[in-house]
Amino acid sequence: MIIHFFLFLFLFWIVIALNINTSAVSVSGISSGGYFAVQYHVAHSSEIMGAGIIAGGPYWCSQANVDIALTSCMTDPILISVDVLIAETYYAEGLLSIDPVSHLRDDKVFLVSGLNDTVVVQGVMKKLQTYYEKIGVRSIQTNFNIEAEHCFPTENYGNIPCTFLGSPYINKCGYDMAGQILQNIYGKLKSKVSYNPNNIRTINQHDFVPLHVDPELIGINSKGYVYVPTNCANSKSSCKLHVVFHGCLQSTENIGEVFILNAGYLEWAEANNIVVVFPQTQSNVLNPKACWDWWGYSGVDFATKIGPQIITINNIINYIESSKFE
Ligand SMILES: *[C@@H]1O[C@H](CO)[C@@H](O)[C@H](O)[C@H]1NC(C)=O
Ligand SMILES: *[C@@H]1O[C@H](CO)[C@@H](O)[C@H](O)[C@H]1NC(C)=O
Repeated sequence: MIIHFFLFLFLFWIVIALNINTSAVSVSGISSGGYFAVQYHVAHSSEIMGAGIIAGGPYWCSQANVDIALTSCMTDPILISVDVLIAETYYAEGLLSIDPVSHLRDDKVFLVSGLNDTVVVQGVMKKLQTYYEKIGVRSIQTNFNIEAEHCFPTENYGNIPCTFLGSPYINKCGYDMAGQILQNIYGKLKSKVSYNPNNIRTINQHDFVPLHVDPELIGINSKGYVYVPTNCANSKSSCKLHVVFHGCLQSTENIGEVFILNAGYLEWAEANNIVVVFPQTQSNVLNPKACWDWWGYSGVDFATKIGPQIITINNIINYIESSKFE
């Protein structure tokens, strides 16, 4: 009897485990999250098949220098040397601190920058386009024609007009950014449907930071969010996995669940069996706006596979891919 009971529990556990297609893992992000998504893509290119970047910039742009980050990499892109950044990328490849660059070439890259972005100007994103082109990525799509300020555009949620600049940096632009990202990465998807709020799970991100590292020093919030579509919760469907990096001042610490619920990802996720992870930063003295690290506040290795934030995200992805996640 007891044996049967445990057998039942065991079978039940197997049945509700996720079945993630590890060839269908992708990332996207805006602003600091855009820079971070590029870093994650370049560092772990063997595991990532697509990246959607809004208002970010090229890999290693800041060169671990906050002054370069605030000037060249935001408003003075004429100062960015893509050739230097590419040389640094191959140098990192030689040190094995990032995956072989060749894994980037068959990935899908989608780049978006608003015409009216005054925070990370379009020229920075054009340098990112050049970076991906020179590194040999064959599938690059861009949209540099939206009349948008520095924001996450949506079809019908957020500040108006689309050229408004301010919290929560989500603007109503009549443009379905999330849908465009996911379809540029995965191809044409089924029409979006309503999401189920009960499918939003949380994880303790502190379980995933590297050993002996203080999560607060590296800017990692305790709580992260995972949307598990209805058809993914039983492992019968093979599901895709997409990780979204918010911008500065867009973490749950700043705006609660506003970005997670309204950026537009959940409806596409529910209709198309895409598990979506929304990792969250936590502000600290070096990073008062709760940005993802693209200049080095978490340590000089921030842009490589041994960067503590990159390790944390990789551990979360591995956990969700393993049958241990519910
Ligand atoms: C997994 O994803 C890859 C890449 O998107 C796709 O070609 C393949 O068909 C998928 N496999 C399954 C079982 O869905
Ligand atoms: C946005 O940028 C475009 C192109 O430079 C310009 O025509 C338009 O007037 C700008 N909109 C606002 C509100 O500044």
